[in-house]
Amino acid sequence: MQAQKLPEDSCNDRTQKPSSPENAEEPSRPKRSDYIGRLESAIQDYLREAQVPEFQRLCELRKKGWENPAGDAFFAKQRQTADNADDKTARHFYTMMLDIGKDMNRQTGVFSIEPSSPTQQPAILDMCMAPGGFLATALALNPTAQALAFSLPPEEGGHNVALDLAAYPNVTAHLCDITMLAADIGVSSAEIPVDHPDVHGFLPAHFNQKKFDLAFCDGQVLRTHARASYREKREATRLTLTQLILSLSHLKPGGTMIVLSHKIEAPAMVQMLYEFSRFSTVTVYKHAKFHAKRSSFYMIASGLKVDSEEAVALLERWRRKWKSLVLDMKLTDERFAEMAEEGAPTIEEILDTFGERLIEMGRTVWGVQAEALGKAPFIKSKAEKSGSWRS
Ligand SMILES: C[S@@+](CC[C@H](N)C(=O)[O-])C[C@H]1O[C@@H](n2cnc3c(N)ncnc32)[C@H](O)[C@@H]1O
Repeated sequence: MQAQKLPEDSCNDRTQKPSSPENAEEPSRPKRSDYIGRLESAIQDYLREAQVPEFQRLCELRKKGWENPAGDAFFAKQRQTADNADDKTARHFYTMMLDIGKDMNRQTGVFSIEPSSPTQQPAILDMCMAPGGFLATALALNPTAQALAFSLPPEEGGHNVALDLAAYPNVTAHLCDITMLAADIGVSSAEIPVDHPDVHGFLPAHFNQKKFDLAFCDGQVLRTHARASYREKREATRLTLTQLILSLSHLKPGGTMIVLSHKIEAPAMVQMLYEFSRFSTVTVYKHAKFHAKRSSFYMIASGLKVDSEEAVALLERWRRKWKSLVLDMKLTDERFAEMAEEGAPTIEEILDTFGERLIEMGRTVWGVQAEALGKAPFIKSKAEKSGSWRS
């Protein structure tokens, strides 16, 4: 297929609507670093040059969607339904997560754990369990597995757990805010400033040296989560970093991480995918129907070399970032932006070694999203809706 050339900036983040669903959880977007800005431009140039048909189609559809207020209304309604989930919606959410898990496993086999030795019991870590669809799928496929699961308590705004935990004595579940698990992150109580607004809220160790084969990191910041005001600005980064640190530092060599991610071409995402590709096999998955109109997808990193130099260095960088983000009340946007570059790979290294793989994985994600957006009522023209090509 001959691809059309796109006008400059037509799929650039800078043109993204500030109120678009992808930004919904970050009320005021923190300042971009020079590094992130340069990486973003380099990615956009790279993709424009490569003329990837799926990406070009998606860019055109996104633009159409932003121009139509019905698109905003559509995503606002979805958010409202998610925030005010009654029992029926919660049940639907659980069934949906079951279906996504089953389909992901059908396509990739990642939920079926191959124990590293015949005597070892499979072990599953679920960072944000509720409603429990992924965990139920993984337990059905690995009935002898032990699981450690966390989830935000419903009284703090978290989702209800639909999985019948009483039927699973092999699951240890903790209802807590995982971003408060300071001891498991590797932060001592002496490192927590005495005047920190949450000084009494940080939690003791919950992991007890346990190591896991498979980790789910699909937490999502909820608008219903009641939290201290200092957390409003960078909550999505705080939640993602917490899940990544706790999972990578508690996985067995050769283990697998499944990470809910957004916008595969975004600079921080490209950086993350590349960094994982240095010590694991990285692939992506997107369901053809559920959340298909959104940019979300799952990164699957398997065969993780958790003891490799690259993994150890990355964990170290993440921990430094976590401490600044969570503990330093004087952290400025400028300083936070600078941290994106510290120890990070160069832009040339990322695109030279990973550009083609990024396009390969991106085509899967962009293709599904474009297909779904193309059929969305707020994208279809009047003519298409009425079935007439003339009007
Ligand atoms: C997309 S859902 C997870 C779906 C789930 N893994 C499944 O398979 O059914 C996102 C979850 O993140 C949880 N969450 C959000 N913020 C959290 C936090 N700070 N600590 C723990 N859980 C959190 C929410 O309560 C919600 O259950």
